[in-house]
Amino acid sequence: MTKRLVVFASGTGTNFEALADHFDRSQTARIVALVSDHERAPVVAKAQARGVPVITLDYRRYATKQAAEAALIQQLPPCDLLVLAGFMRIIGETLLAAFPNRIINLHPALLPSFPGRTGIEDAFNYGVKVTGVTVHFVDAGIDSGQIIAQAPVLIGKATTLETLETAIHDVEHHLLPQTIEDLIKEEKI
Ligand code: GAR
Repeated sequence: MTKRLVVFASGTGTNFEALADHFDRSQTARIVALVSDHERAPVVAKAQARGVPVITLDYRRYATKQAAEAALIQQLPPCDLLVLAGFMRIIGETLLAAFPNRIINLHPALLPSFPGRTGIEDAFNYGVKVTGVTVHFVDAGIDSGQIIAQAPVLIGKATTLETLETAIHDVEHHLLPQTIEDLIKEEKI
């Protein structure tokens, strides 16, 4: 049976597009909604152009993260997996309790190195020679949940921050859809 994905994204949405393109072809899953915390984020227009329903979650309208997440849960369609693809907020206890082992995150570094919002830049500035991409289950910590998949990206002498960003995104666009395919095949979702 086709799995139902909800994608969470805050910004550009190239990973949202990679997921949508992939699952248009494979049909093992489909994106049933996009959740964004910014109603003007470019990813919102990308979802609308594809006919994917958008749920805007304006955290500022709620007194607490629990209240915001409880309101979101009311709006979510039935789904098998929440996929954080460039979502720049920490998931709280309410959403974690509602979707145990059903939330995964894409991170642009080889965890446990360089967690947080600026993983690509942090790895580059540190001077590591290998960085990469991680897909992991989300837990209550910051980028600390169980790792599902990783792929390396080399940093050579000619690598600049800009070329590294491009290389990381290229790897992400393959690793995230493939990891979801594997979770489906292994009946983990
Ligand atoms: C991606 O590189 C993703 O790994 C990163 O945001 C970017 C979103 O790009 N996520 C994080 O840094 C989460 N801490 P996109 O909007 O083009 O998909």
